[in-house]
Amino acid sequence: MATQESVTLDYPRWAQISQRRRAHVARVAILCLEWADAMNVSATERARWLKAVTLHDALKSAPAELLRELAPDAWPVKKLLHGPAAATRAARDGVRDRGILDAVRYHSVGYAEWELVGQILYLADYLEPGRSFHTVEHESLTAAVPSDVIGTLRSVAALRVAGTMAAGRPLLAETVEFWNSLVRG
Ligand SMILES: [Fe+2]
Ligand SMILES: [Fe+2]
Repeated sequence: MATQESVTLDYPRWAQISQRRRAHVARVAILCLEWADAMNVSATERARWLKAVTLHDALKSAPAELLRELAPDAWPVKKLLHGPAAATRAARDGVRDRGILDAVRYHSVGYAEWELVGQILYLADYLEPGRSFHTVEHESLTAAVPSDVIGTLRSVAALRVAGTMAAGRPLLAETVEFWNSLVRG
């Protein structure tokens, strides 16, 4: 089984990410690798998952000015800018894989048009065991992912949407569309 020490993530040169956040990204990667094994995905797909994981928080510690410059059309909330900014920066670097870029761009908000790579990143980002809000319910969801990606996505999206509403924050159009796509089946 992969451990935090054994998983090597190939960060881009432009990454601005703290050690603490790197530890989170390593845990996200470990979870994705466990699911990839359980789901018997191809080596190519596994590599796409790892690429999306490595890029998703790569600009988490970047200054707001840089994030806004890279993502001028994104939602006007600072903590939501690092995904779209990293997707833009990765595309400039030559990443052309739309599934990976969409996974990175929308990882904080959800996206109805996601490929499996985006769905897996969204699940692992929330369910990784180092999160301060990790619970026993999250353990069961983690175990259920390989056999029921859409069912667990629905449960995780419900938890995240409920959290946003409980905090009195607005729901973004992308999040509502994502939720609707999950319950429409
Ligand atoms: Fe993030
Ligand atoms: Fe993350």
